[in-house]
Amino acid sequence: MGILLHRQAPMATTTQVSLSSKVIDITVRSRQKAALERLESIPTPPLALNEIIKLLNDADSSVLRLEELILSEPGIAAMVIKVVNSPVYYPVHPIETISRAIMFLGFDEIKKIAMKVGVLSPFKQKDIVQELSMIANHSIATAMITAMLSEQISQNNYGEDRSLAYLVGLVHDIGRMAIVTCFTDNWKKIRYKAKSENISLFAAEKSFLFNHTLIGNWLADRWQLPGNIKNAVANHHAPLNDSATTPLSAAVQLADYLSYKLGLDEHTAPDINEEAFVLYLGIPAGFLDYMKSQLGAIKKLSSDMAKTML
Ligand SMILES: [Fe+2]
Repeated sequence: MGILLHRQAPMATTTQVSLSSKVIDITVRSRQKAALERLESIPTPPLALNEIIKLLNDADSSVLRLEELILSEPGIAAMVIKVVNSPVYYPVHPIETISRAIMFLGFDEIKKIAMKVGVLSPFKQKDIVQELSMIANHSIATAMITAMLSEQISQNNYGEDRSLAYLVGLVHDIGRMAIVTCFTDNWKKIRYKAKSENISLFAAEKSFLFNHTLIGNWLADRWQLPGNIKNAVANHHAPLNDSATTPLSAAVQLADYLSYKLGLDEHTAPDINEEAFVLYLGIPAGFLDYMKSQLGAIKKLSSDMAKTML
């Protein structure tokens, strides 16, 4: 996959993450904790899992192809990162890219992980399967855009790690996937409210005293995902002047918005001021226009990658 390089980037500070986690834990604890605690992975379509397991059973399969498949599926990618950073393996430094996770774990361990990922039953309600597929497609496009933006960011050298940026974009909406999976009734009410009042899903979620960034951060905390990933999951809709916002979470927010503009997803979040994001990230003048000229190709590529979802 041409969009991948393998370099490291600095971590989000623990203060940023732990402070918000305390608030989130209190908010989530009283309402959704039990259901979320049972969620060990994001349900994944059997076709995607089978393709990975088939590849892992083939002695001639390549690491690059395995990486491509994992990076086409937010649920599997999140599970691999969760396991490789768990106390079972306890890497010296957080592992924040799929390529490093594959090198660290090896094919046999990845196979065990793939076999433990929750399967999205084709017998589940069709609207749930469609929603998870749509989020996955949106997430792949967001990942591609975040990776492209990351190379242009002038702050904190985040531009040095395209692979991390891609992964963060891919898993940024695990909170949405968890809401659809664990709180299906609420998710339907959120959808109805957003549509009937013509507001974003994020705004509609607030009426239910939670939102997908809170849920996502709670999950990321429980799954012990690395700081950079957790921060972007938690803060990809935070205002630019929020102390928890980082260049990477802001890049995901801009990418998320551009992805929504592609029509791959519903109106998930309020509109943002694109220029303010360009200034904050230090992206060169004209790059956003270039990015927008690439959106059609990104839409086609992400849709092709997400084809195995149904
Ligand atoms: Fe989001």
